[in-house]
Amino acid sequence: MYEAGGPFPCHNQAQAVTAPEAGLECKKASLLQWGGMNIVIVGPPGAGKGTQADRLSAWMKVPHIASGDFFRAELRAGTTLGLKAQAYIDKGQLVPDELTTSMILNRISMPDCAAGVILDGYPRTLPQARALDAALAQEATGRTIDMVLLLTVKEETVVHRMVDRISCANCGKVYNLTYKPPREPGKCDRCGHNLYVRSDDKLATLQERLQIYRAETTPMIEYYEQRNLVHSFNGERDMDLVFKELQECIASHG
Ligand code: AP5
Repeated sequence: MYEAGGPFPCHNQAQAVTAPEAGLECKKASLLQWGGMNIVIVGPPGAGKGTQADRLSAWMKVPHIASGDFFRAELRAGTTLGLKAQAYIDKGQLVPDELTTSMILNRISMPDCAAGVILDGYPRTLPQARALDAALAQEATGRTIDMVLLLTVKEETVVHRMVDRISCANCGKVYNLTYKPPREPGKCDRCGHNLYVRSDDKLATLQERLQIYRAETTPMIEYYEQRNLVHSFNGERDMDLVFKELQECIASHG
């Protein structure tokens, strides 16, 4: 069972959203219709899931729930869960389902998730997707996963992005030294905390993560494809453009 060591990391749903989404201001009224939308964002390591989920969370004003960020927060807090998870994360392996699933299901049962969530990094295996479905089906509201947003990128792109990734240890915001540098080197634009390089962003670990994605996550995507829930996006494109496409897809769904 999940034993939380501190507050759940939950990103910026209350923050203002900038430039690219301004063009969709007119669709703000649609936000009301999106109440209750539960979205899964999926893709290989470095596809831009965290980057886009963070922006969508701010735009839709629903929590961004990232399983990897949970584990990293637990590790920083020095909890048993964090230490157990680190052994897997540093090898590029999946943290066992009994730790991951209870942690996420506990989080999405909280009141702030009733009006919808963006799930980033969970589910990422078929058993996790089935566990999520079963848990949602037991809720009184009978909510389900509404959309799965798949970001596709080539593996060579992933490697290129990872070597330049830096992240905020406090709020989880993600930067890239080439594509999205912070305004002040080493400091988070959003909260001012120090930026760091993730321990699993090493080439050998990355190869393992990519292999696990192919073996474990691909069947999960097929599971959602059979239900016509998957919307695929070219994650190679500029991050503002990807975001705009995601917004348009969600807006047309709402
Ligand atoms: P997790 O943290 O979820 O890692 P991941 O899935 O491998 O994905 P990343 O966070 O590495 O990449 P991302 O797609 O979010 O890309 P980002 O936006 O950062 O999980 C880590 C570990 O925790 C797992 O390996 C596992 O051990 C464990 N774990 C987590 N969930 C689990 C689960 N459900 N079950 C079991 N174990 C679990 O972008 C990457 C870089 O690219 C950044 O620098 C960004 O600025 C840049 N970038 C983004 N988009 C673009 C773009 N369009 N153009 C140029 N650069 C871009």
